[in-house]
Amino acid sequence: MKKILVTGGCGYIGAHTIVDLIENGFEVISADNNSRSSESILDSIEKITGKLVKNYKVDLCIYDDTVAIFQENPGITGIIHFAAYKSVGESVKKPLFYFENNLNSLINILKCADEFNIPNFVFSSSCTVYGNPDAIPVTEETPMKPAESAYGATKQMGEQIVQEAVNCNESKAILLRYFNPVGAHPSALIGELPLGKPENLVPAITQTAIGKLSTMQVWGSDYETRDGSCVRDYIHVSDIAHAHTLALNYLLENKNESNCDVFNLGTGDGHTVLEIINEFEKASGVKLNYTMGPRRPGDVVAIYANNDKAKKRLGWYPKFNLSEMMATAWKWELKLKYDENIFVDPNANLN
Ligand code: WQD
Repeated sequence: MKKILVTGGCGYIGAHTIVDLIENGFEVISADNNSRSSESILDSIEKITGKLVKNYKVDLCIYDDTVAIFQENPGITGIIHFAAYKSVGESVKKPLFYFENNLNSLINILKCADEFNIPNFVFSSSCTVYGNPDAIPVTEETPMKPAESAYGATKQMGEQIVQEAVNCNESKAILLRYFNPVGAHPSALIGELPLGKPENLVPAITQTAIGKLSTMQVWGSDYETRDGSCVRDYIHVSDIAHAHTLALNYLLENKNESNCDVFNLGTGDGHTVLEIINEFEKASGVKLNYTMGPRRPGDVVAIYANNDKAKKRLGWYPKFNLSEMMATAWKWELKLKYDENIFVDPNANLN
């Protein structure tokens, strides 16, 4: 079987991607220091797939520990690199922390890929690389504006580092620009585990609906949009996961157009914050307690994807609609509250 290293494999998108890879015949190992995740998610992955994935609890910023993974695992044919901090708000407050972690870990992984001649690399990028676009929907050719946060800057720089790395060896890469990943695996055995008070919209909604939060705020009601709240392209995490399997096969079958192809991963539809709340209320039957608040610094007004290239080149077609995104997110929140079998790391400050 084709052996793939998934860094950040215990994270939200990483775990969903491991499930999809296993279901599509790949052998997977994970590298995750669990600084922002819990290894218990691997037990849930085993319940879904029947496979217990080995995780290397390694800080990828330490080169010697990173290289040991590759020494112990000959025959890795591809790497999917998720491991990074991803909170926009936190990155604005701690930029150096973000540059140090996100870039050092990427550089170490790329050095190992070069040293061990690993031919295929998939990089977890983000729609934040576009900044505040002049025109929407954005295509992969839309020029990058200045990043609105250190997090976005690490993704812009990360893309450039990957491109330069593959230019000087025989390897090839794909950059996947996620829009807003939401929802959970239909089994509700894996999902998003935000540490502390959730920054992202959908976990804020589900935690408010279940009573973990007393209320939530809509950040901004005076934007130039159809109802004054920001527009985003929400995409189910399982659709994002499947795109990684397709991207790996695209590289393994040498279908790539260049040594570093880029793809937008969004549904191609934009929805406002208020529309998402409305969709959640319909899907869950719960009336949400929220108030209209001020704008959040660093927020982009409106962005959504032109996803034609991923459809055409990868054969990727998002399957989950908005109602299913909200329903699976809600089912996961209910499971977290009522199913004591879902182990939550005692260190995770979830309240
Ligand atoms: C969405 C909208 C908020 C919380 C970030 C990253 C992106 C990706 C997804 C990694 C905004 C509003 C939110 C709340 C609110 N990360 N909101 N009340 O900032 O679009 O994107 O996360 O893959 O790369 O940049 O996502 O969910 O934080 O915000 O009104 O309590 O919801 O203002 O308009 P964002 P988000």
